[in-house]
Amino acid sequence: MVNELVQQGMTAVERKLESVVASDIQLLEDASLHIVTSGGKRVRPRVVLLAYLAAGGQDLDSVVPVAAAVEMVHTATLVHDDINDHSLTRRGKVTVHARWGRTFALLTGDYLFTKVYELMAPYGVEPNVMIATACTRLVEGETLQAAAAKSGEMDRETYKQIISLKTASLFEASAILGAWLAGADEKVIQALGDYAYNLGLTFQIVDDILDIIGDPEAMGKPVGLDLTQGRGVLSVAQNGGKNEEDGLTAVAELEEPDPIQQMMAGLRASGAVEIAKMQAQETAVRARKALEFVPDTPARDELFGLIEAVLNRDH
Ligand code: IPE
Ligand code: IPE
Ligand code: MG
Repeated sequence: MVNELVQQGMTAVERKLESVVASDIQLLEDASLHIVTSGGKRVRPRVVLLAYLAAGGQDLDSVVPVAAAVEMVHTATLVHDDINDHSLTRRGKVTVHARWGRTFALLTGDYLFTKVYELMAPYGVEPNVMIATACTRLVEGETLQAAAAKSGEMDRETYKQIISLKTASLFEASAILGAWLAGADEKVIQALGDYAYNLGLTFQIVDDILDIIGDPEAMGKPVGLDLTQGRGVLSVAQNGGKNEEDGLTAVAELEEPDPIQQMMAGLRASGAVEIAKMQAQETAVRARKALEFVPDTPARDELFGLIEAVLNRDH
């Protein structure tokens, strides 16, 4: 029942995403549709819908534009992020900048961001402030990451701050928006926000692990980029490894001629992946705990299930 409802809601989100990017400027519409219709896991809009239902919301259609807006923020940042990360594939397709060039990719990302205003305009001040706050944090996180990667100062604290800002904040906003629009109590809104924040941290740590052990075909994007660009949970281990007795590279050098593959093999052999997995387990525990303050409903069960799906995902 809940599944069916959410499925219908997600189909409506897809339609909204596709219709809202229509433009007389064909290139803008083509480039937008290229990224918008290329799949994607749609985790964030799902969190909006499930949080709305878990908080007692009765009219799922009323939050579909908000779920679409959250996914649109995410999609816009991916277009810009792929320029910054020099990434050539996304969601199993060529990236917008690889196909249309950097200028049009920047403009496409801008265009997608403007669509967030359009989608959110009918909802009034509070929801707009919530999504604006998440957007601010996201940009702060991406900036902090680029600065830390550039200076080579990616320590554990900085990494935590980065993933909190660039990923967990939008997850948190997704749940808070859903719960707020359902008219829930402050306590339930907070609990769902806390859940989604920790789900977001888990999601990003797992993503960074998959950058080392994942299959690029299944992921639809390149692997190994974080390491070469000084990012991700494992670049923290890599920085530490350099200062310790060179244990990471020693194992790898025997087996791998390619330097990137060598670093990846070194990390896999070092136990750093296992440590990162433990960190993901810890944030997942926090997400589960937060749900204890949310009424026991089928929607809450789905939110529990999402934690396991995020932990166990391979793409
Ligand atoms: C990619 O997000 C960026 C991260 C926060 C790791 P997703 O993994 O949700 O990307 P799509 O939407 O499924 O492509
Ligand atoms: C993507 O981050 C953009 C944001 C989370 C804002 P990443 O660079 O970590 O994700 P991928 O690996 O490109 O998907
Ligand atoms: Mg990236």
